[in-house]
Amino acid sequence: MSAAGDDWPRALRKCVNPSDLRSLAKKRLPFPIFDHIDGGCDDEVTLAANQKEFGRYHLIPHYCSGVDAVDASTTVLGQKLEWPFFVGPAGGLKYLHPAGEIGMARAAHNLGTAYSMSGFTTTQPEDIAASANEGPRFFQMQPCRSREVMADMIQLAKDCGYKALIVTVDNPIHGNRERDARSGFGLPSNFSLKGWLSIMSHPWWAIRTLPLPGFGLYDKYMDQPGDLNWLGEQLVTNITFEDLAWIRSQWDGPFAVKGLVGVQDNRRAVDCGVSAVILSNQGARHFDTAPATIEMLPEVVDAVGDKIEVILDSGIRRGTDILKAVALGATACTGARTNCYALAAGGQRGVERALSLLRSEVERDMVFLGAATLSDVDHTRIRRAASHD
Ligand SMILES: Cc1cc2nc3c(=O)[nH]c(=O)nc-3n(C[C@H](O)[C@H](O)[C@H](O)COP(=O)(O)O)c2cc1C
Repeated sequence: MSAAGDDWPRALRKCVNPSDLRSLAKKRLPFPIFDHIDGGCDDEVTLAANQKEFGRYHLIPHYCSGVDAVDASTTVLGQKLEWPFFVGPAGGLKYLHPAGEIGMARAAHNLGTAYSMSGFTTTQPEDIAASANEGPRFFQMQPCRSREVMADMIQLAKDCGYKALIVTVDNPIHGNRERDARSGFGLPSNFSLKGWLSIMSHPWWAIRTLPLPGFGLYDKYMDQPGDLNWLGEQLVTNITFEDLAWIRSQWDGPFAVKGLVGVQDNRRAVDCGVSAVILSNQGARHFDTAPATIEMLPEVVDAVGDKIEVILDSGIRRGTDILKAVALGATACTGARTNCYALAAGGQRGVERALSLLRSEVERDMVFLGAATLSDVDHTRIRRAASHD
């Protein structure tokens, strides 16, 4: 049993996989908020592909191996994790549940893994550092136009003991999220009548959440908290590899770039001194028709996997997805939707439920794969399906 305990509240006990937690979140949230987590951009082609492409691979069990206990631990961005998945950055967690970022961080640590704070955190980074327990925390930020602001944020990350810096590069502008456009969710939100009716039919959510909280990291740089002009001026920026190298020069510890998909781009990131690439299409939230990351993984591992860690993001829903990525050369995986659904479904305990389901699936399936450690989960354990529709 993990530090999280097994005495689940009834509603969470009935959730036996991440998909059940998604269904519970759908019940507990007004639809504009649920759709904001669940949706992708444009036609959601990449959103669907992110999960479907895992189906192109099969895991090959290895029996008579004598393996009946496994060690799924790995080292990611300098931190030892008990299993190869960590909580990826997601903004606005207090929109989902008052436990917010602190509940998410505590859940990750109770389940033996790391938490990544989003630049769009609704809790102050210092408060997360002070209130979350001792597990590893990563600090994610969007690149800003002002190097002075970036240097200040990086100093804050150092002062608060964040162990690694993650810079997300794949939303130089905001994507076209049609579900948000229909519901009126946005900055600022201008909910449709249907959206307001849904909010009114979720009074418990409304009492605990409205008005929507501001941003803990960026608000401190604005003259007025929530200044949308500041966000537009600073965060809508398409940085260059030279900027990435500059950010690297400001941070001594492990450093990851999140969102490069192409092989050449990932090679160039190595030249900028990154310790890891997080192979991500940001869950298809900004750009549609990009390839699923699991499709790109073998090529990217081939190009840079001998120099840096390759972490797979986007589409992880099951322990077998994690093991497929590891078998194709990923050091570990990350993601946000599953954790967000779980937070909305049950706060910190909800996230603990989701992570414990994923973790036990990884550990159970390693026995079927005859893999005592993750180093045994290699190309001998995976096969690309001959056909797949
Ligand atoms: C509600 C929500 C907010 C997110 N906010 C951020 C963010 O602030 N920064 C970031 O790099 N990624 C953000 N992401 C993207 C996730 O880190 C991750 O790349 C994506 O969710 C992967 O897709 P998956 O969760 O479907 O596997 C967000 C995702 C969601 C669902």
